[in-house]
Amino acid sequence: MQNQQTKKLTLAAMMTAILIILGVFPGIPLGFIPVPIILQNMGVLLTTELLGAKYGTLSTTLFLALALFGLPVLSGGRGGFAVFLGPTGGYLIAWLLVPAVLGSLLYLLKQHNRLSWWLELVTVMIAGVLLIDFIGSIWLSVQSHMPLTTALLSNAAFLPGDMIKATLSVILARRLRKIPALQGIF
Ligand code: BTN
Repeated sequence: MQNQQTKKLTLAAMMTAILIILGVFPGIPLGFIPVPIILQNMGVLLTTELLGAKYGTLSTTLFLALALFGLPVLSGGRGGFAVFLGPTGGYLIAWLLVPAVLGSLLYLLKQHNRLSWWLELVTVMIAGVLLIDFIGSIWLSVQSHMPLTTALLSNAAFLPGDMIKATLSVILARRLRKIPALQGIF
């Protein structure tokens, strides 16, 4: 029991480190929207799929706290309170919520023996990718004085890449869960 908790805490810390490493990728600006294409959202999905609601939230909260306190852990070496008030602040808040929402849904599917790979992917797409893009768009529209429909339509540009990231995260998570040392974590 104690051993299992230590494992979960260690994995949570490791996933925070992976989120930071994914931030080394500088982000690709799109030009028509002040939000770059990044890799860290894939890290948030993977963290949730491996750790579930509680420890996933712990890991992303730790990561976002480091960003909030000014450490350059966000893509392109950014960090600080101002980023949270900037155009991408809504996505960052969504990253905090994803483990609770997506993690709980995945847990329910697992409890009912319904965690097939495609159902996991659909859940990650809806309660992960779309949730992040939706909350991100709402804040983007408020912060940038942009109509919500424009913000939502602009966000559609992220969907192809985000779908690939979601698929990769599901493939990776399902493989990693089979490793004996990681069994029973999620
Ligand atoms: C930040 O570093 O300030 C947050 C950037 C958020 C980028 C969002 S996450 C969802 C969507 N997919 C991407 O690749 N970029 C946006």
